[in-house]
Amino acid sequence: MLDVYAVITEVDDAIVDQVARVLEQNAADPQLRAMIDLYLADLDMRKDSRVLEIGCGTGVISRVLARWPGVAGVLGLDPSPGLVARARELSEGFPNLTFQVADGRAVPIVDGVFDAVVLHRVLSHVPGPDRVLAEAFRLLCPGGRLAVFDGDYSTVTVAAGAGDPLQACVSAFQEGYVHDPWIVRRLSRLTVHAGFVGQQVRSHGYVQIEEPEYLLSIVDRGADALRASGMIRAPLADALKAEARVRVDENAFFGHVAYASLTAGRPG
Ligand SMILES: C[S@@+](CC[C@H](N)C(=O)[O-])C[C@H]1O[C@@H](n2cnc3c(N)ncnc32)[C@H](O)[C@@H]1O
Repeated sequence: MLDVYAVITEVDDAIVDQVARVLEQNAADPQLRAMIDLYLADLDMRKDSRVLEIGCGTGVISRVLARWPGVAGVLGLDPSPGLVARARELSEGFPNLTFQVADGRAVPIVDGVFDAVVLHRVLSHVPGPDRVLAEAFRLLCPGGRLAVFDGDYSTVTVAAGAGDPLQACVSAFQEGYVHDPWIVRRLSRLTVHAGFVGQQVRSHGYVQIEEPEYLLSIVDRGADALRASGMIRAPLADALKAEARVRVDENAFFGHVAYASLTAGRPG
């Protein structure tokens, strides 16, 4: 199965709706919001900054950026017309925020017009992340700043111990929803190759025990992917989802995602 985000322009409306729901659910998560605030502060945004978000989805981060101190205007780009339409609806009332349908690997905008470019949970989903970073470099003015945030998805866990069958859902999620679960390990090298300097890297731990909405969505999507692949039948997929919820009720659920952020600059 392919990462749905990597083929977002080919999936049907029902999948786009599901993706939009998950992205907006994430948006309300206080742990993720705290991580966003922390790494965006590393950008050291100059006054009147023009900011580009590549892979904006429903515009969660673009809306945070539009309110960020020093930001004059934000453009969010995404290749999915459905997600861009949703982003526009959800961003009414933000006068300094616009959206455009475009592929981050070939952006139809002239060189050097942005002060900052943000890539939030995008590079792990795009075949050819080096091309996105090359575009980010080209679109930044000299001295412009780059921020990348992504999951180290190879280490996602819901296992309570060795051989925990629930972890099979995570493995299926990694295969079906993340093009490159190892990208975080190569971020530093990729950004240096693209020409960026002055990297600052942070790790951000994300843990869910009570009300683990996001990790349950990973279990559910993984169980559904296993069933869709023919590996398991409906009763086992349902049982895996139910097992996760029993653990939540018994306060025995543990889920963890490691994220990392990297900020860097285009030489002045
Ligand atoms: C996990 S979502 C993150 C969305 C948003 N940044 C957020 O955090 O809410 C990944 C996004 O990457 C977008 N994407 C996929 N391929 C892309 C490409 N070639 N160029 C730019 N964005 C892409 C998807 O459409 C999707 O909106």
